[in-house]
Formats: sequence, C-alpha cells, structure tokens
Amino acid sequence: MKAAVFREHGPIDNLEIAEMPTPTPGPGEVLVRVRAVALNHLDLFTREGLPGLKLELPHIGGCDIAGEIEALGVGVEGWHEGQHVVINPSLWCGRCEFCLAGEESLCVRFRILGEHVRGGAAQYVVVPATNLFAIPDEYPFEQAAAAPLVFATAWRSLITQGQLRAGQSVLILGAGGGVATAAIQIAKLAGATVYAASRDEAKRRRARELGADVVLDSNEDFGREIWTLTNKRGVDVVLENVGAATWERSLRSVVKGGRVVVFGATSGPMVQIDLRQVFWKQYAIIGATMSNRREFNTVMRLIFWERKLQPVVDRVLPLDQIREAHRILEAAEQFGKLVLVP
Ligand SMILES: NC(=O)c1ccc[n+]([C@@H]2O[C@H](COP(=O)([O-])OP(=O)(O)OC[C@H]3O[C@@H](n4cnc5c(N)ncnc54)[C@H](OP(=O)(O)O)[C@@H]3O)[C@@H](O)[C@H]2O)c1
Ligand SMILES: [Zn+2]
Repeated sequence: MKAAVFREHGPIDNLEIAEMPTPTPGPGEVLVRVRAVALNHLDLFTREGLPGLKLELPHIGGCDIAGEIEALGVGVEGWHEGQHVVINPSLWCGRCEFCLAGEESLCVRFRILGEHVRGGAAQYVVVPATNLFAIPDEYPFEQAAAAPLVFATAWRSLITQGQLRAGQSVLILGAGGGVATAAIQIAKLAGATVYAASRDEAKRRRARELGADVVLDSNEDFGREIWTLTNKRGVDVVLENVGAATWERSLRSVVKGGRVVVFGATSGPMVQIDLRQVFWKQYAIIGATMSNRREFNTVMRLIFWERKLQPVVDRVLPLDQIREAHRILEAAEQFGKLVLVP
C-alpha cells in the first residue's frame, strides 16, 4: 500500500511517499481503508522526535482517520465490511487500574495511534474493533477525519477536567488550532462565554464566526484585557495549550478559585509559576490528555448523529502533499484542520 513515512526523525524533508506492506487484522482487529486522514500538531512532534519515544521505522503518522471497513479479524462482531467509521486514536490496555475505572487516557500503557504505533497516513490501517465509531454514510470523509482527536481532547479538557458550565467564561488560546476550533464550539454548546486569543487577525475573525464572543490578540497583553473586560474578575477556565509563550498571561486571566487546564505546550514546555499567586488566588492547574471512551463516544455522537458540532477543515490535500501539509501546520498558516486523502 501507499503510505507517507519517515525513516528517521528530523525535518519535513524526511517525509516521503513509500510502498509499505498492507497490514492484516489480528483477532479483535479490523482493516480500515483510509479515505481521509487529518494532521495534528502531534504529527510534527512525532516526526521531530520526542523524549522516550522509540518507534519501529519507517513510521507512518496520522492519528485521525475516517474510512470504510475493509476486513474483519477473527472474533469481531457487530461491524460489517463497507461500514463508514472514524477511529478513536487512543490505545489502552483494558486491564490496568485506570482502564478498569473507565479512565482509558490514564492507562499505564497508554499509546496513541500514529504516534506510538503506525497510523493512518496510508491507504490502509489496522485498529482494534473497540476503537471504531460508526458514522452516517452520507457524512463526508474529509470532514469526518478532522473530528476524533481534537474534539475528544477539547471535550475532556473543557467539560470533564475544566468543569465548564452554563453561565461561566472560558479563555481559549491559539484559536486557529485544531483543538481550539473544537473547543470554541463545545464551550458555546455548554453555554459559556468564550474569549478566544490568536496571533492572527484573519483567524480572530474566523474564531468569531465560529462562535467566540470576544477575540483577543495573543501577541498583546490579553491578561490585562481579560481583567478589564471581566470587571477585574478573570475567566472561570483557561484552556492552555500554547505553553511558554502565553503561560504568564494565561495565569493572570483566571478568576480566583478558577481552573487552568493544560493539554499542550506548542511553543515550549518550561514555564515559571509564582506559588504565592497559586495559593492566594486558589486556582487549580489541571492536566488533560485525549479522552476516555465515554467522553469520546459522547462528543462523536454530538458531531455525527446530532450535528451540534462541526469539524473545521482548513483545506484538503492529496496524501502526496504530506510535506506541504506539515509545512502549513508548522507555520500555523491554517485555521482548523489539514486533511489528506490517500
Ligand atoms: N494532551 C493531548 O491529548 C493533546 C491533544 C491534542 C493536542 N495536544 C497539544 O496541543 C497543542 C495544540 O494542538 P493542535 O493540534 O490543535 O495544534 P495546531 O492545530 O497546530 O494549533 C496550534 C496553535 O497554537 C498557536 N500557537 C502556536 N505557537 C504559538 C506561539 N508561539 N504563540 C502563540 N500562539 C501560538 C497557533 O494559533 P494562532 O495562530 O491562532 O495564534 C496555532 O494555530 C499541541 O501542542 C499539541 O501537541 C495535546
Ligand atoms: Zn490500561
């Protein structure tokens, strides 16, 4: 099969289109014909190499997959060939303390499809049947592929970890990002007032169209602006993912007793904290990664079957243009998701 691979970690030029063996599904697994695969910032980090990440090379990236079931492994029931699906990119053991408690993203053997194991930037991928989510036949694959990872992460971050509720307010950083475009919609659906910050004027306009109530320039002192706009109060929840570049201003934006949810550190992971601020303002700093199965199914149902949330696709490119797609994402030229078609 055709796949986008890299043979060693490094720059964009390491990516190439290559012939790879088509995988075969083992017991409990399915072979999916990939019809569209979306990129995530994680694809850039995986290509560059992450501490402790040891991959079987050549590696195939691509965590977000929409496609059709091609073949069922032994023992798979309840699915049929040709069925349209998206794939939950979280991989869990099902046996550890956290899996047994229904907290798959805390699994001690937690892995991500396309990061730790070969993903979907290819014509075919094999996944556990437990990771399938059925979507309507008429739903466009290109849009479907833009949904799983970012909406699952945004849902867990805002609703579970952030405890965002109707009437509250949230600040979403990096508004043009994939998770951020999901988060803006989820926060509005939850009945919150949404402040969204981006460095780019055109993206701020798009964020407003998507539902953000107030947009802010993340190159400016948005902490001070939030302070003024909220009558010296701050927002209930800050959704941090930009990291070092925005961290200090993010902490200044949170209300006393509020929540700062961190699910990423795009601009750098090392930050400073003034502990006096933490105990005086009594805010909580809470981590979030991916989702458990319940969260995944809840948010996928809202997208595919209730149509209350819409994946935001910046553009669709052929898989052959994988290098160009990585370049666009690295330069943050996109608003929403980049989708590739094999
Ligand atoms: N923990 C998890 O499970 C999980 C899941 C998904 C993602 N993540 C992490 O979360 C982050 C976002 O992921 P994504 O896929 O949504 O990324 P993305 O689509 O590439 O978006 C990242 C956004 O961050 C903003 N940004 C980047 N560098 C910045 C800087 N120096 N200063 C200010 N803003 C900056 C940009 O927004 P503007 O151009 O609008 O300013 C950019 O669009 C990544 O670090 C990713 O690894 C973690
Ligand atoms: Zn586990």
